[in-house]
Amino acid sequence: MSLVHEIDYGTPASKAERTVTLSIDGRPVSVLEGTSVMRAAMDAGIQVPKLCATDMVDAFGSCRLCLVEIAGRPGTPASCTTPVAEGMSVSTQTPRLKQLRRGVMELYISDHPLDCLTCAANGDCELQDMAGAVGLREVRYGYDGANHLKQAKDNSNPYFTFDPAKCILCSRCVRACEEVQGTFALTIEGRGFESKVSPGIGEAFLESECVSCGACVQACPTATLIEKSVIEIGQPEHSVVTTCAYCGVGCNFKAEMRGEELVRMVPFKDGKANRGHSCVKGRFAWGYANHRERILKPMVRERIDQPWREVSWEEAIQRVASEFRRIQGQYGKRSVGGITSSRCTNEETFLVQKLIRAGFGNNNVDTCARVCHSPTGYGLKTAFGTSAGTQDFDSVEQADVVLVIGANPTDGHPVFASRLKKRLRQGAKLVVVDPRRIDLVRMPHVEAAHHLALRPGTNVAVLNALSHVIVTEGLVDEAFVRARCDWDDFSEWASFIAEAQNSPEQVALVSGVPAEAIRAAARLYATGGNAAIYYGLGVTEHSQGSTTVMAIANLAMATGNLGRPGVGVNPLRGQNNVQGACDMGSFPHELSGYRHISDDATRSMFERLWGAPLDNEPGLRIPNMLDAAVDGSFKGIYIQGEDILQSDPNTQHVAAGLAAMECVVVQDLFLNETANYAHVFLPGSTFLEKDGTFTNAERRINRVRKVMTPKNGHADWEITVLIARAMGIVMDYAHPSEVMDEIARLTPTFAGVSYARLDELGSVQWPCNEAKPEGSPIMHIDGFVRGQGKFMITEYVPTDEKSTGRFPLLLTTGRTLSQYNVGAQTRRTDNVVWHQEDRLEIHPHDAEQRGIADGGWVKIASRAGATTLRALLTDRVAPGVVYTTFHHPMTQANVVTTEFSDWATNCPEYKVTAVQVGTSNGPTEWQEQYRDQADRSRRIAIEAAE
Ligand code: SF4
Ligand code: SF4
Ligand code: SF4
Ligand code: FES
Repeated sequence: MSLVHEIDYGTPASKAERTVTLSIDGRPVSVLEGTSVMRAAMDAGIQVPKLCATDMVDAFGSCRLCLVEIAGRPGTPASCTTPVAEGMSVSTQTPRLKQLRRGVMELYISDHPLDCLTCAANGDCELQDMAGAVGLREVRYGYDGANHLKQAKDNSNPYFTFDPAKCILCSRCVRACEEVQGTFALTIEGRGFESKVSPGIGEAFLESECVSCGACVQACPTATLIEKSVIEIGQPEHSVVTTCAYCGVGCNFKAEMRGEELVRMVPFKDGKANRGHSCVKGRFAWGYANHRERILKPMVRERIDQPWREVSWEEAIQRVASEFRRIQGQYGKRSVGGITSSRCTNEETFLVQKLIRAGFGNNNVDTCARVCHSPTGYGLKTAFGTSAGTQDFDSVEQADVVLVIGANPTDGHPVFASRLKKRLRQGAKLVVVDPRRIDLVRMPHVEAAHHLALRPGTNVAVLNALSHVIVTEGLVDEAFVRARCDWDDFSEWASFIAEAQNSPEQVALVSGVPAEAIRAAARLYATGGNAAIYYGLGVTEHSQGSTTVMAIANLAMATGNLGRPGVGVNPLRGQNNVQGACDMGSFPHELSGYRHISDDATRSMFERLWGAPLDNEPGLRIPNMLDAAVDGSFKGIYIQGEDILQSDPNTQHVAAGLAAMECVVVQDLFLNETANYAHVFLPGSTFLEKDGTFTNAERRINRVRKVMTPKNGHADWEITVLIARAMGIVMDYAHPSEVMDEIARLTPTFAGVSYARLDELGSVQWPCNEAKPEGSPIMHIDGFVRGQGKFMITEYVPTDEKSTGRFPLLLTTGRTLSQYNVGAQTRRTDNVVWHQEDRLEIHPHDAEQRGIADGGWVKIASRAGATTLRALLTDRVAPGVVYTTFHHPMTQANVVTTEFSDWATNCPEYKVTAVQVGTSNGPTEWQEQYRDQADRSRRIAIEAAE
């Protein structure tokens, strides 16, 4: 194996359509108009020396190393800033150019430490390479004069260092931060000889606006900005391209290794979701894979109040098989079930649901998508016929208006956010619909045209009001609706939406959003050109989650914003493989490809291939499994890669359900909160230790490639296979590619997918089949999958969860950039420097009324439970609304969330909980107990590791 080297073309690719032909060093070359001479030369196989140019950012023309001569033009222009022209004749290697370049390099080297042999970048330094390329043999200027060699190093960022003594002021880092990441954290401070790169105004990196995305580190041609892991471990020797296991953006990375040790994760420029960019999680937060708290040996115990006992894999697997068979013998076939994981691969998820359907003989399988995007599946399938988003991420580059509702992309989907911000800086308009003033509302060079700061729980009302304006002001795209949608449904919907109850003036009363703002946002969305909607859990996690998704679909259909680039309805999926987990048949009523279990033809196809009869009745959803456990009819569960005690609502109820079961099997990396109720713990594997695929929010199937041997002995898919075999179920797979072959055989939308195809194309967006062998970047181009688009009546029904005299504030929840979900992985990395605890955001006015000080402890109570955390006073939230993250188990925000859920899918109503907030002396009794228990678990893990 060797390092995967991606060519740096020096300047970005042109998007023009016309081709021009020129000659470079006598070689003819045809390139797109607007291409730089430097890039054209690369296309012709000629490398022009360069330092300040890199193809991730626009050319700058500062280093003067890339000079060329052009016939008929005076001087020696920089090839990076000179566009090609028809018939141009370029020379890149003349005696004059060679001399000029050597002179430039000599000046650079005269103010650069000559410690190449001990420098961490030795062998991966462009300055070193260029010195060789231009034939620099001597430096005539000594080191006695003024120089920058004594400048202090900044080690404040946990993941990379900044050594200004090595800086050549090429400004690649500054431009990467601006153009790629869109944070504008870096500047060139001072003038002339005093110029230097500075995070903020002379701040350390950690104190600055830097979000640690790593774009500047990647752009830096020297060791000025370099990963600490490279300094510690050394230069990588080989690499494997794989996919980030955090969020639904699905960024591709090169995992660069030295032996069996991971040195760094470098974003892959050919990655079609991320196009070479990354966020702090995928780029740097992989240390959890080696964390000492990771459990590597299987453990069992008879009762949950007993200590764990380490056992062999054979004993653990036998225990699982015999317990599930015993329970089924005693309590019936439907007394057991399982939960698949949106963190695991498609292949692993497919096998877990196969184990349950074909092995357990029931359909009691569900997934954590239940608690996040199940309304997306339901709503979009109803409206369009497919349970998935309509676009690829590239599509945003053609959007003119972007409506972001119930999503916080800069924190939740950072790499997509960077692409969105770039488009906004180019002039696209933004509408934000969110109770909280998320960063996108106003940040450097981005400002929303409208921020509709609605009261939590009123999404449907506001979306209806937007449609009301479109219908009543004649802004409907009637040609689109007549051609593509069911006209009768539309007419019925249009009469409903035109009713006075849906007018902005009426909706203003319930949502708190001024009517004029709603009208202006609707007009912009309907008339501003290509309009795209991006949404997140702030849409789905409501009692009207499915209705909201359908209201979004109505809005897009009514304005004809579907079926082409730049438009569409785009759910921003939370976890890395939440789309895939749903696609693979993780819901109790659906087989892979969203086909109902009661469909005889589909079921018999599975039965024939699996050699087992399948139950035609939908099984239990997660909340129903827990209810049945409390009632005594559900006794055993296999949970792969989920922590339902922390991630599901109403923690006490989840705990009661788990405690009532006779066999709880948890398969995970760490002893998570759910494992406190487990009888068998099966150590899981990380994404670095297995082969498989993840499907991101764009329906893109990305390869996950094994980078290192599983530390626990087995990849997660192998563990499921072992359980199946111990239960007498045939599962003969030598490699996950064979599981994908089976998925393709059984699932029409995956029929063309194979590992060979993925290796050939890099990734593919389903549907991928005979009709679409290269996949489907944009859906519903010629017609909706269901035939005609279906308008649904979306009546606003206020949630039963209302603020009252006793619980006067509305709590809503969300994520922060550096942490991920319940924090099991990110809390075990240096990302904790940015988020050490969950805080309660509260408006200063509400805080003052309650005597709450910034940083003071507060108790937050709902009718479900209470917890304490510290307060953060901010006007990001409106008066009457409070907000927190849920990354730390000590906070357990879900103790206060209630049992209310989406009417169609049971997705919990996490985003609206009526609460009271008051001052507190510190953690509650259960939090103290929890801390003791967590300390005990941690000790067990560490002792086991030692
Ligand atoms: S790490 Fe990212 S945000 Fe921070 S300075 Fe570099 S490019 Fe900017
Ligand atoms: S830190 Fe690196 S990328 Fe930035 S100006 Fe200095 S040498 Fe160039
Ligand atoms: S944006 Fe998401 S997929 Fe990409 S690196 Fe960050 S966490 Fe990973
Ligand atoms: S690479 Fe062209 S001026 Fe620096």
